[in-house]
Amino acid sequence: MTEELLKKLRAAVPSAIILTSDDDCTNYGMDWTRTPGKAGVVVLPSSTQDVSVVLRFCNENKIAVIPSGGRTGLAGGVTATRGELAINMSRMNRLDPVDLLGRTVRVQAGVTTQSLHEHCERAGLTWPIDLASKGTSQIGGNLATNAGGVRVIRYGMARRWVSAIQAVLISGEVIELNQGLEKNNTGYDLLQLLIGSEGTLAIITEATLKLTVPPIHSHVFFFSLSHYKALENLYEKVRRGPFTLTSFEFFSDKCLQKVEAKLQKKSRLEKPSRFYALIDVETTSENAQSKVDGWLEDLMADEIVVDGLIADASESQKEVWALRESITESLQMSGAVRKYDLCVPVKKAADFLDEAQALFEKLNLPIELYVFGHFGDGSPHLNFLNAQNLPIEDFHREVNRYESELYPLLKAYSGSVSAEHGVGILKKNWVLFSRTPQELRLYKAVKQVFDPNGILNPGKIID
Ligand code: MLT
Ligand code: ZN
Repeated sequence: MTEELLKKLRAAVPSAIILTSDDDCTNYGMDWTRTPGKAGVVVLPSSTQDVSVVLRFCNENKIAVIPSGGRTGLAGGVTATRGELAINMSRMNRLDPVDLLGRTVRVQAGVTTQSLHEHCERAGLTWPIDLASKGTSQIGGNLATNAGGVRVIRYGMARRWVSAIQAVLISGEVIELNQGLEKNNTGYDLLQLLIGSEGTLAIITEATLKLTVPPIHSHVFFFSLSHYKALENLYEKVRRGPFTLTSFEFFSDKCLQKVEAKLQKKSRLEKPSRFYALIDVETTSENAQSKVDGWLEDLMADEIVVDGLIADASESQKEVWALRESITESLQMSGAVRKYDLCVPVKKAADFLDEAQALFEKLNLPIELYVFGHFGDGSPHLNFLNAQNLPIEDFHREVNRYESELYPLLKAYSGSVSAEHGVGILKKNWVLFSRTPQELRLYKAVKQVFDPNGILNPGKIID
């Protein structure tokens, strides 16, 4: 941006903080994937009015803009590849009092997921989307990416838990969608259109979120298993178990080893195996314990699992959950990572994983594969590490060799190239593996209506 425009911008939004240093522009120009990017200038608005003025200014001056929050995304969804102006919502972090009767809360987009949880907990309620990145991720980003997390089996994705959105269009116009109603059958649902649109249509500034009673973590089961089919068999058993299922997560032994090295702590399972399942359940019935005991006896008799432990106390549950929640960071610490956040129909997840693993072995690539994710949603994460420290271009070439066979396999399983991380720039070329050409044509038409100059988060999802 020219000095003259910068001066005009400062004058137009005196209450915004404007950053221009190299460090700030780099820091706010990338997400957790560290896909190279750098903002031209960073604006931290203090109000919806500020956002409106900034977007109108950008539209009039044809300055490209990226929305920015906690930047914990994993698809390059807020990467500034073209020196865009980054508009970061962190200062807009107001939390209104919880509406106990309606079970909702109005918040600004820059509130972190964790502070929202803490705020609602004081009222005995929760927004049930739970993510490993909750300490940093922000509600605006959670909604813009339709975040998933570790409780989707029970609560679904973020879009289920919103009853109003305030957003700013690139023209500067402020729109209020759905005014917090539970029911509103009056035509197209623009609120749902904005959720998951990755900041390409408008910038979310506030939302009214639906709340529920927090789950009770009665038991956390941690099992070791020797193959993917055993995970499927276990899931079938869990589905018929005497409890309400909150999470069914899994990870490979390779992931566990990385996490143990990072936490400098061993898991308490006596017999390790190739895979692990973490199952979080809530029991409510009176004689719950004896039913659970019976269920466990049955499970052991079927020899589906190799070993297991039950965590009932909050501290030991946290210990088990830490093994799952530390995977991303443990891998990130090990150098370059390429992430595949896939979804297949859950009943085919084990077969798909067997084939994906066989494909990896067949290609015999000089890279390492780490598998973990949300088995209960049919949503595995395949992560590749540059374990042999190849020059970075060689690493990407090797992963690409795998990718070019993985995506056709995924298509054969009617899968999706992104279960929850979104498209951003990293999955853009592969959207047609999960969407039809007709859908893409409509995407482009929608984008044209919202952002005729193509300057709002340009190059994300579609070109
Ligand atoms: C997770 O399931 O932990 C998140 O999607 C993050 C990741 O895939 O690394
Ligand atoms: Zn995930």
